[in-house]
Amino acid sequence: MKTLPLLLLGLALLGCKEGTQDKKETLKTLPETPPPLAMEPSPTTGKTLMENQCYVCHSATATEENRIGPPMAAIKARYLKDHPERADFVAALWQFVEQPSTEKAKMRGAVKRFGIMPYQAFPKDDITAIASYMYDYKIEEPT
Ligand code: HEC
Repeated sequence: MKTLPLLLLGLALLGCKEGTQDKKETLKTLPETPPPLAMEPSPTTGKTLMENQCYVCHSATATEENRIGPPMAAIKARYLKDHPERADFVAALWQFVEQPSTEKAKMRGAVKRFGIMPYQAFPKDDITAIASYMYDYKIEEPT
């Protein structure tokens, strides 16, 4: 009976060793970024959508003279001030983009300079993806 605990200990140690090796193998084969959870748009989608749909007017690289709207980084900073929580931030962005109006606008200076953002029928899912990307990642700033 004395050997049984030892045997078990031995097995446990062996098991541990194998466990670590297995883990290493798994880590090696895992993709760089885990697949996004269902319902969560992938950051790449958000980034691409933002660059394709919003940068015409909100690009960081436009020169002062040919700016059509404020750079996205400025919008992010302004919205973060009022909505530091991710869900609030995303909701607030959609709330404006869904139907832009002077009453809803937070960026008075931008409205004065550029006029209110023209209404465009963006799908809510696209804006959610863009807003999530904006919240989670550093947005290119004008140089
Ligand atoms: C045709 C040009 C144009 C496009 C395209 C455009 N915007 Fe705008 N947007 C503007 C202008 C101009 C303003 C500044 C005036 C204002 O605040 O409404 C603005 C302001 C904003 C604001 C700040 C509103 C506030 O509170 O004052 C948000 C948020 C915004 N845009 C989001 C977006 C997103 C997201 C996209 C892409 C899906 C986008 N815009 C595409 C022109 C555009």
